[in-house]
Amino acid sequence: MKALDTAMELWADPDDMIAAWDNMQDKATMECLVSCLVGRANRIADLGCGAGRYADVLSYSRYYGFDQSVAMLRTARMRGRGLAGVEYAVLDVFAYMSDNSYDAVLLLDVAQHQSDPVEAVRLVLNNWNAPIYVFTVLVGGAEVLHNSVVVPEENVLRMLFDSGMKILYTLQLGMDESFCSKLYGVTRSV
Ligand SMILES: C[S@@+](CC[C@H](N)C(=O)[O-])C[C@H]1O[C@@H](n2cnc3c(N)ncnc32)[C@H](O)[C@@H]1O
Repeated sequence: MKALDTAMELWADPDDMIAAWDNMQDKATMECLVSCLVGRANRIADLGCGAGRYADVLSYSRYYGFDQSVAMLRTARMRGRGLAGVEYAVLDVFAYMSDNSYDAVLLLDVAQHQSDPVEAVRLVLNNWNAPIYVFTVLVGGAEVLHNSVVVPEENVLRMLFDSGMKILYTLQLGMDESFCSKLYGVTRSV
């Protein structure tokens, strides 16, 4: 899975951007993560965790943040100092087969920066087996928006259906009328 070049450049040298990203701290996502995971997930893998935006709020559990960017993880580790149960590792999350030891796997604001966001989600569902997944995808009509790929929502829904996933909840995270970011919580329908 190949990330967009422009996004890769940003993640390799993110220091000027981290404060701006923090200002876009997504309250709705945080509330959703807390209400869906607390009490259900004691081992959480945050794939493409970046600078660790959600480590604090999820540190009630064992939290494992994985990212390919050494620079992003440097900030995450600095911030995570003092948080018990928080660990980080450098990893290409799309080229890794997990040992299925997680209660929840998160892919937040990562898929939309890959060349094929739907395939990125599919790889995670296949390679990181867990009872609960939470991911965000940019959906709508536009083609490309600030280092992101926008996909038709029906493609995401079809892929979830084909993979045997059951949607627990969706949350629209705003933007404008032509596209929006959606957060999906899904589980395996057995
Ligand atoms: C837009 S940031 C989102 C960070 C975090 N999830 C958040 O919401 O704040 C995307 C992150 O995904 C990471 N990423 C992209 N492709 C990846 C891959 N193949 N393996 C691991 N991390 C990846 C980038 O390095 C970057 O830190």
